[in-house]
Amino acid sequence: MKNFNLAIDGPAGAGKSTIAKKIAKQLGFIYVDTGAMYRAMALYFLRNKIEASQVDRIEEACKNVNVTIEYKEGEQLVMLNGENVNGFIRTEEVGNMASASSVNRTVRLKLVELQQELAKKENVVMDGRDIGTYVLPNADLKIYLTASSKERARRRWAELKEKGIDADIDSIEKDIIERDHRDMTREFAPLKQAEDAIYLDTSDMPIEVVVETIINLIQK
Ligand code: DC
Repeated sequence: MKNFNLAIDGPAGAGKSTIAKKIAKQLGFIYVDTGAMYRAMALYFLRNKIEASQVDRIEEACKNVNVTIEYKEGEQLVMLNGENVNGFIRTEEVGNMASASSVNRTVRLKLVELQQELAKKENVVMDGRDIGTYVLPNADLKIYLTASSKERARRRWAELKEKGIDADIDSIEKDIIERDHRDMTREFAPLKQAEDAIYLDTSDMPIEVVVETIINLIQK
């Protein structure tokens, strides 16, 4: 039987990675977090003091960056030039740089190739912004997962609180709205719902219900 590709797209904080991980675990699929790949590239740019607006430097740097992924006990490890950078890519600074630098076509093409290779060989749940529209246009099932910016900011705020970090919910929401705007209006492979994607607004849906809904759709 041909391998199954599930594409989940949506804005930051919609719950994509939490949901994708649970589905992958239940079905024994591989979870591919494409945002983590853009974050690893962004970390390289930040470490080398390259700004998102410095197009020539970004394109030159792409020749020296090698991003790959490995799996250890079911967890995705993102390797940046051979270094496991999982512990460095979850900050707001890296997230914002990932959003800003991922508008660059060279950056995207470099990562898309790797994503397509993985999906060819394995049953995957892949999440990102352009999976259903650009990376895997023939995915077996496409989901567009979203939630209101207020709810997404509240989730992020609760996550930070859990880690003992005090944050201002309004400035988180402002950041989220800015990031959405940039991801949705970039020229190359912007975030948008694929025509054949199923739209799910998770603002008032418990995670377990979203997971069950998607698994039922896969089994259909
Ligand atoms: O999902 P995330 O927050 O980890 O993604 C970080 C940024 O990376 C996001 O704001 C835009 C970019 N990204 C992208 O352009 N395409 C993807 N498939 C995944 C992420």
